[in-house]
Amino acid sequence: MREERQLPMPSWKSDELDSPIPPASEPAYYDGALGAWVLTTHADVLAALRSPSMVMDGSKAATDEDMRTLERMREETIAALSGPQLRRWSDTMKPFVEERITLLPEREVVDLVGAYLQPMCLQLAAIVTEVDEKDAARLRELAIPVSASAAEPSDDGLREQARAVTAELQACFHAKAKTLRDSGFVALSHTLPSLLANGCYALLHYPKQWTLLHRKPELMEQGVEELMRYGGLSRYLRRQATEDMVLAGVSLRKGDRLILRIVAANHDPARFVCPNDLEVLRRGRGQLTLGAGPHACVGAGLLRMAAAVVLRPLLMRFASAEHGGSVEWMGGSGFRAPSRLPVVLHLQKQSSETSNEKTS
Ligand code: HEM
Repeated sequence: MREERQLPMPSWKSDELDSPIPPASEPAYYDGALGAWVLTTHADVLAALRSPSMVMDGSKAATDEDMRTLERMREETIAALSGPQLRRWSDTMKPFVEERITLLPEREVVDLVGAYLQPMCLQLAAIVTEVDEKDAARLRELAIPVSASAAEPSDDGLREQARAVTAELQACFHAKAKTLRDSGFVALSHTLPSLLANGCYALLHYPKQWTLLHRKPELMEQGVEELMRYGGLSRYLRRQATEDMVLAGVSLRKGDRLILRIVAANHDPARFVCPNDLEVLRRGRGQLTLGAGPHACVGAGLLRMAAAVVLRPLLMRFASAEHGGSVEWMGGSGFRAPSRLPVVLHLQKQSSETSNEKTS
C-alpha cells in the first residue's frame, strides 16, 4: 500500500535519452533537497534492489501477511505467464503484426508510435487481459491519466485524475490473475509502447545496429536486452531501509530513504563496456530496466516476448530507418519516451549508412 504523502521528485537531465551528456556513475551521496541517498553505480543499485532490508519507499512496514499476499500475487502472475501461454499469445499476435507491418509505407514519413507500436501493444493488451477488442481503444483512452501520472508523479492534477478513473477501469477487467487486469492493461497498452519507442529511437541513432538486426533476426532476444539497457524507461526506483545497515559504502539508519538511478546504473562503465554505445551483440543480461531482486518486474517474461513479437517483423521487413521529423516526448520524472516518432523506412539499406556512430 502506498502512502498518499508526496515525496520530492528528482530530475536528472542526463537520464533523458536525447541528452547529449550521458549519466555519470558516482559513489553514493546524500541529497538534502531530496531527503534521500542517491545511488548510481550498477553494483550499488543492484545491492539495494536485492537487499532483504529494503522496502519500496512509502510502503508500510511489511507484515508477514503483506509478504504472503505479495508472494501469492507473484506466484499467481508467474503461473498465468507460463512459457506455453506466452507462446500462444505470441502466435495469436503474429497475423495482426504481419498485417500491420505491410501497411507501413516505405520512403515516406510515418509516425512509428501511432502507426505501429501503439496499435500492436493495444492488440496484445486486449488479448492478455481478455477484454473485447471493440472496447480496447476506449479503455486505453480512459487509462491515459493513469499512465501519465506514472510518467510524471509530481503532477497532483494527473494523480487525482488517475485515482478517479482507476475504479472505473477496475470494473472492466475480469482476468483470473489480478496483475493481468487494469494494471496489466495500462502496462501493456501505455508503458510497453513507451519502452519500445525508446528502443526504436535508440536504433535510429545507430543505423548499423538496425541493419544488423535486419540481417540477423536471430539476435533479436539479445537485441531486446540491449535496447532495454540503452533506451530504458523507469528513471529511478525508491527504497527505504528497514534497519540500520551498511550498503553502498554508507551507514544507513532504519527509515533512511534511497533513490536508485536505474538509467545511470544501466550506463555504468564498471559494469558495461562502452556503456554509452548501443551494441546489440553485447552479451549477458544485467540491465536493470525491469528491476531486480525480490520485487523485480513479474511481467518481465511477457515484456520480453512482446518486445520481440512487435520489433522482429519491423526490423525484418525494413533494412533501415531514419528520422522523419521532430520527435515529440511525453512523460517526465518517472519515465519519458517519444509520443510521436516520425521515421522514414527503407526496404533496402541506404548507402550513406557507413558509420556506427551515434547520429545527432
Ligand atoms: C513496459 C512495461 C513495464 C515496465 C517498464 C515495468 C517495470 C517494472 C519495474 C522497474 C519494477 C520494479 C519496481 C521496484 O523494484 O520498485 C516492476 C515491478 C512489477 N511489475 Fe512491471 N513493468 C512493466 C510491465 C509490467 C506488466 C505487463 C506486468 C503484469 C504482468 C507487471 C507487473 C509488475 C509487478 C506486479 C511488479 C511488482 C513486483 C513486486 O513488488 O514484487 N509489469 N515493473
